[in-house]
Amino acid sequence: MKEQLQQLKNEFDDEITTISSNEDLENIRVKYLGKKGKLTAILKMMGKLSAEERPVIGKLANEVREYFTDSIESNKEKLRLKEYENIFSKEKIDVTKPGNDFSNGSLHPITITKNKIVDIFSRMGFTIERGPEVDTIFNNFDALNAPKDHPSRSKSDTFYFDAEKILRTHTSTVQIRTMLKKKPPIKAISYGRCFRNDEIDATHSPMFNQIEGIVVGKNITMANLKYTMETFVNELFGEEVVSVFRTHNFPFTEPSAEVDISCFKCKQKGCKFCSGTGFIEILGCGMCHPNVLEKCGVDSEIYSGFAFGMGIDRIAMLNYEIDDIRYLYENDIRFLKQFGRKI
Ligand code: PHE
Repeated sequence: MKEQLQQLKNEFDDEITTISSNEDLENIRVKYLGKKGKLTAILKMMGKLSAEERPVIGKLANEVREYFTDSIESNKEKLRLKEYENIFSKEKIDVTKPGNDFSNGSLHPITITKNKIVDIFSRMGFTIERGPEVDTIFNNFDALNAPKDHPSRSKSDTFYFDAEKILRTHTSTVQIRTMLKKKPPIKAISYGRCFRNDEIDATHSPMFNQIEGIVVGKNITMANLKYTMETFVNELFGEEVVSVFRTHNFPFTEPSAEVDISCFKCKQKGCKFCSGTGFIEILGCGMCHPNVLEKCGVDSEIYSGFAFGMGIDRIAMLNYEIDDIRYLYENDIRFLKQFGRKI
């Protein structure tokens, strides 16, 4: 039996040098140490040995079993190291290689335009007020003196949540919020997204951006409005641009006007931007209606004011010669990266 054990050991030693995977190793373990394994088979024959031989062979058999177990364990470790070596030789990291290029984003054309406009009014002393996109019907229509049957109130024009809340249709809601919050003198602008139930086409989007301003104080007149608008137009579009005030109607201002500017693209010769007229409509404005002031607790006998509002998208489109508003909201990186400085 001693010889048998020695032979088994030799056989094991030969076989273990040939393994190349954990699977091979497991097969060897089963073959020698498993329930039906070779060593187990020899051990089962121990009962036939004499009383003197049994402890000697028993000791030897135990040693062989330990030897097999240790050898399998150390081979397992060898395989593991070999696997790492393989990975390391295949996946070399060259730390001297230049990194992958990653591109910086740039500001959206609407943001660039908004920043320019905010900058001009900030320099004129306007503060910035904020208002929510979901606002009350009171702030959007009632307080702004919109008659109950005003067409802009219809469900086909405005997104309603319930009997009180809507997606604001203009930033004029912030006129109301500001007057309810602060005492005159007030000189504030506000900007942000507005929503109207419009079909999408090249010039309409159900979501767009406006910037709005309000000035309330003593002795504020149409002259102040005119000067402020003209100064703004010349700052944004250039010194040579002329503003024309055309009468208009807004429920919340009286008198109201729309401001057209001489076409800064063609210098009034007529082009596609001014539809051949030499003038481009740019904003709405007017003197605050006394009803609006009173609804906000401002005494219209003492105070007067003016307000104005304009579409940021429209101005961005003119400036950058973008002929379809949809480009502004499609988030196509090829379009967006053409504009402005990198962040
Ligand atoms: N809220 C108006 C609009 O959306 C613009 C406007 C603002 C007009 C302030 C006059 C005064 O068309």
